[in-house]
Amino acid sequence: MTMAADLTRIKAEIQKLRDEINHHNYLYYVLDQPEISDAEYDKLLRRLEALEREHPELITPDSPTQRVGAAPSEKFAVVRHRTMMMSLANAMNAEEMVEFDRRVKRFLKTEGEIEYVAEIKLDGLSVELVYEDGRLAVASTRGDGINGEDVTANIRTIRSVPLRLLKPKRLPIPKLLEVRGEAILPKQAFAKLNEERERKGEPLFANPRNAAAGSLRQLDPRVTATRPLDIFLYAPGVLEGVEFDSQWEFLQAIKEYGLRVNPESRVCRSVEQVLGYWNEMTERRHDLDYDADGVVAKVNSYAVQAQLGEVSRSPRWAIAYKFKAQQEETRIEKIEVQVGRIGSLTPVAKLKPVQLAGVTISSASLHNLDEIRRKDIREGDAVMLERAGDVIPYVVEVTKKGHPRAPEFQMPKRCPECGGTIVHEEGEVGYFCVNANCPARMRESVRHFASKNCMNIDGLGDKLVAQLVDSGLVRELDDLYKLKREQLAALERMGEKSAQNIVDNIDSSRKTTLDRAINALGIRHVGEHTARQLATRFGSLEELAHASEDELRAIRDIGPEVARSIREYFDEPRNMKAVERLARELQIERPHVRAARGPLSDKSVVVTGTLESMTREDAERKIIESGGRVSSSVSRKTDFVVVGAEPGSKLRKAKELGVKTLDEKDFLEMLSGGGR
Ligand code: IVH
Repeated sequence: MTMAADLTRIKAEIQKLRDEINHHNYLYYVLDQPEISDAEYDKLLRRLEALEREHPELITPDSPTQRVGAAPSEKFAVVRHRTMMMSLANAMNAEEMVEFDRRVKRFLKTEGEIEYVAEIKLDGLSVELVYEDGRLAVASTRGDGINGEDVTANIRTIRSVPLRLLKPKRLPIPKLLEVRGEAILPKQAFAKLNEERERKGEPLFANPRNAAAGSLRQLDPRVTATRPLDIFLYAPGVLEGVEFDSQWEFLQAIKEYGLRVNPESRVCRSVEQVLGYWNEMTERRHDLDYDADGVVAKVNSYAVQAQLGEVSRSPRWAIAYKFKAQQEETRIEKIEVQVGRIGSLTPVAKLKPVQLAGVTISSASLHNLDEIRRKDIREGDAVMLERAGDVIPYVVEVTKKGHPRAPEFQMPKRCPECGGTIVHEEGEVGYFCVNANCPARMRESVRHFASKNCMNIDGLGDKLVAQLVDSGLVRELDDLYKLKREQLAALERMGEKSAQNIVDNIDSSRKTTLDRAINALGIRHVGEHTARQLATRFGSLEELAHASEDELRAIRDIGPEVARSIREYFDEPRNMKAVERLARELQIERPHVRAARGPLSDKSVVVTGTLESMTREDAERKIIESGGRVSSSVSRKTDFVVVGAEPGSKLRKAKELGVKTLDEKDFLEMLSGGGR
């Protein structure tokens, strides 16, 4: 085949893959009816990535591989909305809904029923997407309704946002399509994100809305890409080259363009039906995987909407009717400060116990000082409590100031647990106790150390940890390994038998893997995933402790902040000593160490059949030590398959997919740095 014909064939394959991927995105995200497995989808994406890697000149900005592309920006640019993004008037109760309906009828001088579209009012961040000739050109936040922020790079990372509109059968691709909607973080994703942040010692998000806003307003789109944001579109902006007669028609049409619309939206033939929808959704809201804060009723006909017009930034043709929040009023008895594993101080409100959605609540995190100032929360105030994401209680607002009013809350100058110095960096939210021996920090460190994904020590629960640290039996992590049964048995409520069990469990945790040990140290910003990467790259705690910031940053997924945090940890002599002492107690399995650079750098290799000069294990170790990755199955991602005697189905698969095979001789040559 000639070169030109070759290129034409590749172009066609790339186009076909993009169309297929876009189609499957649509089935998955918009229709919620996937037709292929995640693995199959992945395969398509990898194939496209590989082709584009070989032919970078064929990459276009709307390719599904180009979601995360832009470099972090210093600041968001301002986007002026072509028409104002309005807000909604609220109805406080059913009576006000009926009143709204009456007003509409009066204005239109009609007695006949009005047709509405009832939709969920989503609690997220309002955004506008602009499609020009079917391509996503700009995405912006609502801002003040007139000017928003340019968040295009971040919106592009959301999988359910098509970078290019699909071509429906009966509709043209419009010259201009502005659609507005809500970016949200699903409840489950929110819970997971906060768990992870807690593990890494990062400040928690108060609710999914804040988490969505924080994720979307990230200056680095790579960070946004790690947050599973989603979006629902629900309103038109300026349209050119396409027209719709009603809201319902609009929703159906944008769905055909591949945009995600909320499946709960419904046509109601009267205000009574809207109220029925509200009642139904009040029941069902907790089963939805996103925060919904009410129902929006919109006059369906766009002609009638135009007739009704707007007053003071809100349309006369729509109204929001919020759900009754799961809220309860109570009083703040005291504001305490808790110290976390990395020394971060968190203000916590101690409350007069109150029942909220079936649970007794007596304390709520106030998150940070900024939040307290913004809401002006003080001891003795009556506050409204709400359960965000239906789980974590938080203070919505002060409902009645205490009197006499308590002074403004101040962060302590010294650590409430150890009296140590508190540091606070100008412009940052956090306050930290820097005393590495602070008992509060130690309790959190031990708790983390013993947890399932770290040393996995059964029986070492929160209560026992507190007893051990407070009694002075455990001052450093390695003290755990020196505990005697008698010492444990002497603690309150501890029998001989359980004391022995715990000593045994601690003892058997000595044998561990390097990634667990690294995770267990509790280095800020280092979770399970990063620990694993560090383990395969450095091979021992000692090597890791001496790695430079540059070496750390050379690892995939490790950015400057994480690299700095690791360096800072080992630069602290106290930490270094603690690690050395701990290392003496542990028996850490030596992992296969991946070279930063080597003859197999970043190559994915599969071994099949029996080799003559080495065992399968040796071969795999050599691959890793030469910078490569070992995989157990052949896919299009595989770079080479090493074929020994009596190879299995993997050889056949390699041939089918056109993956390069190596015999033992080629393999040895490649390991020594020759050939390709
Ligand atoms: S329509 C002109 N529909 O509520 C009407 N808004 O107070 C424009 N919102 O800023 C909005 N769900 O962020 C509409 N289904 C929905 C909505 C919705 C949530 C938010 C939106 C807007 C605010 C209006």
